[in-house]
Amino acid sequence: MPRLHADRDERRRVYLRARETSVVLDATSAGMPMILHWGSDLGDLDVEELAALASTSVPILAPSTVDHPVMATLLPEPSTGWPWTPGIEGHRSGTDFSTAFRLTEWDTVVGTAVAGGSARVCLVDDSIGLELVIDVELTEEGLLRTRAVLTNCGASGDYTLDALALLLPVPGRADEILDFSGRHLRERAPQRHPLAVGVHRREGRRGRTGLDSTMLMCVGVTGFGFGHGEVWAVHTAWSGNHLSLTERTSLGHVMLGGGELLMPGEVVLAPGERYTSPWVVGSYSSHGLDDLSSRFHDFLRSRVGRPTTPRPVVMNTWEAVYFDHDLATLTRLADLGASVGVERFVLDDGWFRQRRSDSAGLGDWFVDETVWPDGLSPLVDHVRSLGMQFGIWVEPEMINMDSDVAREHPQWVMGTGYRLPPEGRHQQVIDLANPEAYQFVLERLDALLTENPIDYLKWDHNRDLVEAGHPLTRRAGVHDQTAAAYRLMDALKARHPGLEIESCSSGGGRVDLEVLMHTDRIWTSDCIDPLERQSIQRWTSLLVPLEMLGAHVAAPRSHTTGRRHDLDFRAVTALFGHFGIEWDLTSATADELKQLAEWVCVYKRFRSLLHQGTLHRADHPDPAYWMHTVVSKDGTEALVAFVAMATGFASPPGRVCVPGLRPNLRYRITPVDPRDQGSALGAPSWWAQAPVISGAVLGAVGIQGPALFPEHASVVHLVAV
Ligand code: GLA
Repeated sequence: MPRLHADRDERRRVYLRARETSVVLDATSAGMPMILHWGSDLGDLDVEELAALASTSVPILAPSTVDHPVMATLLPEPSTGWPWTPGIEGHRSGTDFSTAFRLTEWDTVVGTAVAGGSARVCLVDDSIGLELVIDVELTEEGLLRTRAVLTNCGASGDYTLDALALLLPVPGRADEILDFSGRHLRERAPQRHPLAVGVHRREGRRGRTGLDSTMLMCVGVTGFGFGHGEVWAVHTAWSGNHLSLTERTSLGHVMLGGGELLMPGEVVLAPGERYTSPWVVGSYSSHGLDDLSSRFHDFLRSRVGRPTTPRPVVMNTWEAVYFDHDLATLTRLADLGASVGVERFVLDDGWFRQRRSDSAGLGDWFVDETVWPDGLSPLVDHVRSLGMQFGIWVEPEMINMDSDVAREHPQWVMGTGYRLPPEGRHQQVIDLANPEAYQFVLERLDALLTENPIDYLKWDHNRDLVEAGHPLTRRAGVHDQTAAAYRLMDALKARHPGLEIESCSSGGGRVDLEVLMHTDRIWTSDCIDPLERQSIQRWTSLLVPLEMLGAHVAAPRSHTTGRRHDLDFRAVTALFGHFGIEWDLTSATADELKQLAEWVCVYKRFRSLLHQGTLHRADHPDPAYWMHTVVSKDGTEALVAFVAMATGFASPPGRVCVPGLRPNLRYRITPVDPRDQGSALGAPSWWAQAPVISGAVLGAVGIQGPALFPEHASVVHLVAV
């Protein structure tokens, strides 16, 4: 990295540009750097224009505040007069409570005008003895990422860090928030509300990302939608305790940011020790959520070590057999799976010692000899002889008190040191920051993967980390546990090249950009009811691209909602994800198996389009009608799903515009429903004609959508002629 010493103002201002996003970072003050602009591309700017932008960004003095303008910095400090959420809080045994960092070094790497770049800012507070390094990067995809490393460089004495947050400024015209709540079986439920003065602070204190975590905190100009409006979003890339916040101050700043939430005494830095914050990742678009979202997708699609093979059709055994493991039944399931085109068979929970229900066995990662007298080989060999990969469920961070490992090593169970925390699903957490416990889990999983040809781990995490501490030291331990879980995933992948890992946590409870650097897909939700799944997948896919969203076809009657849906609706819903089957196929009729096999063919035909293309969702005036489209990167092909979530106020839905197409190309449109029913209530006249229409007409005028029964969907294929 070329080093530019902090000698001249123009060298201490960096202008980053990528994919219609610009960032102007200014480090000309003696202290903390500031982002002067994060938003639309500003075109070519020379140093004079950047200087003018900086000087015209200085607010006038506000009465009854400090005697200089209060500027919004990346890590705001009360020592600058900032009376709102601070960027850092900590102390040395109650002293040295307030920092005043001074800039010492400033390095930049600026790419070409459209490929982003990065800056590293080094600061010290000599009085307190702290050093801070902040990285700011505009990625090629146009994501603004920042993180901080804090070092205790005092000669003696510990520094207790209580909080560290990085905050990005957003213009005051952003006045509406979209964030997410959720629960088991209903992850990522959107909530929209005005952005008023004060803090909208979303905290995750579950030691996992959380079923109710906000995933993204979006703020925009009121009314922004999928395809229109100016909108900014941040994501805190961390699977432990974390926060995301928006703050509008009484002086008009709007700050958007996040960081890790630290428990009391969790991070105490001895001299020379350092703390690295999670990345806080921002995305901006001047034309709506789809574009904002595609930046995250492209970022994840470029991650190191990602699988590059087509995403195999999965069969998961959970809703088919639950804990009732029996070789004959599972073999039959594997046969039926192979006959409909399954490519990866995943044996879910229930294979290890004492695991006849969810009350025992976690931690005893030995195959249960009472159920599997000959080990897993008969099933694994059978699955592989059918040409399928083999995957298996594990929950490495957890332990049942009713397990051999807990009986032998009670000191490995996380807690306060005085008592055990309340159980969740009858389980506790194994202290992976304890080297012996970590080594035990690593060696057991390594042995499992060495003894059996296993391609895939479904890695679960079902209990909140409440009162999670290291019992031997009586210190809080969520930070260490989170880091150790990532380390364990990496170690297993390093020992077993090609191993893929699914991030599951009671369904979609661990979905964040950091865990996705260590895993390959998520289990989106334990709810496989396609109606609920339409919503869960629509919103989860704001962050996660379709190929990483586990989406299964379940039994006709949903196990979690009791609703019944046609196979077509179940399959169309799973098609827009990483397709799988989680259904006791021994109970399916011959006709159902035939239809399922047809849908598997549809998935295989379109998976490269679905998993490499750009996702668009449509803003239809009637909330009952949803549409999503994936357009290939070269614009020559698209797949469009029309979905009736309920009865609409109008039926048929009228013309629907298809976003994302190339205006100059002409597309032939054909239904892809394998049984060619097209729609349930009535197909528009063009349905049977395979018409050819330009992208311009499809984007601006649209086509008549099919009249669907509620809770039904239809798919059409567009190909440029
Ligand atoms: C969690 C997962 C499910 C299943 C069960 C097994 O709830 O989300 O998909 O694997 O555990 O116990």
